[in-house]
Amino acid sequence: MSNRPIGVFDSGIGGLSVLRELLRLMPDESYIYLGDSARVPYGNKSVETVRLFASQCTQFLLSQDVKLVVVACNTVSAVALDAVQQAISIPVIEMIEPAAAAAVERTVTGNIGVIGTRATVGSRAYNVAIHRLQNEREINVYSLACPLFVPLVEEGWLDHPATRAIAQEYLNELFRPCAAATGDDAETRIDTLVLGCTHYPLLKPLLRSLLPNVHLIDCGTYAAQVAYAALQQEETLAFSGEKSTLQPKVRFCLTDILPNFAPIAERFLNFSVDDVERVVIDHPLLAPERKVRLER
Ligand code: DGL
Repeated sequence: MSNRPIGVFDSGIGGLSVLRELLRLMPDESYIYLGDSARVPYGNKSVETVRLFASQCTQFLLSQDVKLVVVACNTVSAVALDAVQQAISIPVIEMIEPAAAAAVERTVTGNIGVIGTRATVGSRAYNVAIHRLQNEREINVYSLACPLFVPLVEEGWLDHPATRAIAQEYLNELFRPCAAATGDDAETRIDTLVLGCTHYPLLKPLLRSLLPNVHLIDCGTYAAQVAYAALQQEETLAFSGEKSTLQPKVRFCLTDILPNFAPIAERFLNFSVDDVERVVIDHPLLAPERKVRLER
C-alpha cells in the first residue's frame, strides 16, 4: 500500500479525459495533474522538442514523489516515451497500446479509424501497434491528423457550430478512402474509431452525434485499467480507509494559468476545482541550448 500520488501529465487540458477514467476506477488515490499549458500544443512540434518537454514534465512529477507516471498524451506516448522512461524506476503508463488492443478487440468489419495530432499520426504508432495485435485477422487502419481539435478544446468550444463543421469535414476526409476501397456497405465500413489524442474525448458527445454507429475508443478508459493493474502488481494501491472520499484528491498544476482551465475541468470532471497552481518546469539550466540547422 502506498498513499503517494499518481502523476498525470499532458500538454494541456486533454489529460483530464484520462484523469476522469483514473478517478472512476481508483477514487481513493491522490493525483497530481500537470498540464503544460504554456507550451500547448505538442502535436505540431518536432520530436526533439516534444522529447524535451516530456522529460521536463516527468522530472517535475518525480520531484513530487509520485509512485506512477501516466503519460496522458498520445503525442508523447508516440514519439517520446523513451524520454519519459529514461532514468525512472517507477511504472510508466502510455496511451497507445491499450487503445490499439481495445480497437482490435472491438472491430467487426476489420476497418479501424484513428484520429490524432500530426505527430501521433505521422509516427504511425497506432498502425504498428494495431498490426502487431491483429493476429491472423486482416485489419485496415485509416488515420487522419486533426490539428484543429486541440485549440478548439483548449478554448472550451466543445459543442460549438464551428467545431461541429470542422469535425464533419475531418470525418468526411477520414471515411472517404475506406468507402472508396470497400464500396461502403455496413460490413466493410469503419466501425471503430480510436480517439488517438486525449483532448478528443472532450468532444465525445459531438463526435458520437456525428457517428452514431461507430464505436469510439477513449484511450483513458483502457490506460486506467493498465494503471490499476500496475499498482496492484507493485502492491502500491492506496489504502482506502473509510469509504470513500468526498472530494477527489487532485492537485492541479499548470505551467501557465489559463482562465479557461477550471471551468472546463469542473464541467468535464463534475467536481469543483478551486485551486490551480502555476509551476515552473523549464528552468533554463535544464535545457542546454543547441543549434539546429533548418531543413529547407
Ligand atoms: N492531448 C495530447 C495528445 O494526446 C496532446 C495534444 C497537443 O498538445 O497537440 O496527443
